[in-house]
Order: sequence, then C-alpha cells, then structure tokens
Amino acid sequence: MPQGKVAVITGASRGIGKSIAFALAAKGATIVAMDMDQAATDATVAELQATGAKALAVVGNVTVTADVERMIDAAVEAFGRVDILVNNAGITRDGLIMRMKDEEWDAVLSVNLKGAFVCTRTAFKVMSKQRYGRIINIASIVGQMGNAGQANYCASKAGLIGLTKSNAREMAKRNITVNAVAPGFIATAMTDALSDKIRGELAAQIPLERLGSADDIANAVVFLASEASGYITGHVLAVNGGMYM
Ligand code: NAI
Repeated sequence: MPQGKVAVITGASRGIGKSIAFALAAKGATIVAMDMDQAATDATVAELQATGAKALAVVGNVTVTADVERMIDAAVEAFGRVDILVNNAGITRDGLIMRMKDEEWDAVLSVNLKGAFVCTRTAFKVMSKQRYGRIINIASIVGQMGNAGQANYCASKAGLIGLTKSNAREMAKRNITVNAVAPGFIATAMTDALSDKIRGELAAQIPLERLGSADDIANAVVFLASEASGYITGHVLAVNGGMYM
C-alpha cells in the first residue's frame, strides 16, 4: 500500500486526477497536487486536508521545465522524497485532420506527451537517488485503437505508451517501475457534455455496459502505485469495460 509514500499528481484539481489524489490519500499517501488552475487546486488540497491527509498545492504548467522543477523541489522540501508520479494532466483539441490547425496539434502533443516527459525526467533525479519509484502515465483507449477526429490526442497517447515502455527499460535498474493506465470512456465533465443518445451508443459498445468512473481509474492507479505491483513494469493496464482488448 502507498502508506507513507509521497505522490505527485499532475492535473489533480478535478476529474480523474482528483479521484486519484483522494484514492492515494485514502491509502495513506501524502499528496502533491499540481495543476494550472490555482483556485481549483487550492480547493482540492483543502478538501484532502479536511479528510486528515497531508497535501500540498503547486500551481504550474507541466510543459514548462521551470514549473516542474519547482513542483518537485517543493515536494522534496515539504516531505523529503517523491515516491510516486502520476502523469495525468491532459487536454483535447479535437477536429478532423484536414481542418486541424498546427496550434491544436502542438498544444495537445505538448501537454499530453512533452509534459509527461518533463515531469518524468525531473522526478527521476529524486527517485534514482532513493532507488525507489512508481511512475504511472494516464494514456487512453484511443491511443491503442485510434479515433476519428482525435489524431493529435491519439498520437499523444500512443506516444505516451512508447515513453512508458522506454522509461520502464531505462529505470528498472534503479527499482523504478513505469506503467500506463489506459482508460476507456469515463464519466467526467468531458463525457457529461455528450447527449444521452451518444452516451447510450457508447455504452452499447462496452461489454460491461456502462461508462467507467473516475474511481475505476483511481483504483488501477493505487494498485500500480503500491508495493504489490513491484514486478510489473512497462505494462499498459486497460480500464475500459472490455471495449478494447
Ligand atoms: P479534466 O480536463 O477534467 O482534468 C485535466 C486537468 O489537467 C485539469 O485540472 C487541468 O487544469 C489540468 N491541466 C491541463 N493542462 C495542464 C498543464 N499544461 N499543466 C498542468 N495541468 C494541466 O480531464 P480528465 O477527464 O480528468 O482526464 C484526466 C486524464 O485522463 C487526461 O490525461 C485524459 O487525457 C485522460 N483520459 C480521460 C478520459 C475520459 O473519458 N475523461 C478517457 C481516457 C483518458
């Protein structure tokens, strides 16, 4: 269990990242919540602290090296170590390829893929000295199967899977495992915006006949962040109700 471990989570102020923060805190981890949204991050950290958890808010952008270094420095200064990194921050800028703008491509690749690279490189320096680490990248089912209208997003998530496997090989000798969780369609603000008809059509393609919840993803992350997963690295854990296998 992640009892007593220090977990840095990006994009932790809402949605799946927030659920991951609460799930790890419930198992006794100390939480460093990083996000660009100051008010929401402060609110999430206050909620975590109200449950008795140790938690710290760091406001910053995962694509900016100086922000990420400040985040990892703050974690070490406050809590002495970084045991778990969850690269969860992500964005979409959907559109058909013919109409996709350079800026839409660059923004998605930058946050979803470069952001994970910068956070991993920075956290690795601390984990490497500790000879212990658990890195978990939040990919997506569409990085495995593709999706029309999301070429930039799918490419970023497929890239994240490649990054996961390369880092797993590179970091194993330091006792650092690197895995990905690939969520299917999860009920969040993003999917709440869909009509009932589209949500129904989506659910019909899922063997378990429902959209996933943020807690379904958080439970998988807790396992990969725990001591119990110590012999698993370079793995992509699909949490998709059987939609893609
Ligand atoms: P969300 O949009 O609710 O939350 C993302 C968080 O990341 C926000 O708090 C946002 O402020 C933060 N963020 C965005 N850019 C950032 C940056 N440059 N630096 C720091 N923080 C930044 O998204 P949601 O739905 O919770 O998704 C979380 C992760 O799960 C993402 O990586 C997403 O791609 C992935 N995912 C989500 C699925 C879904 O159905 N919701 C399905 C598959 C994957």
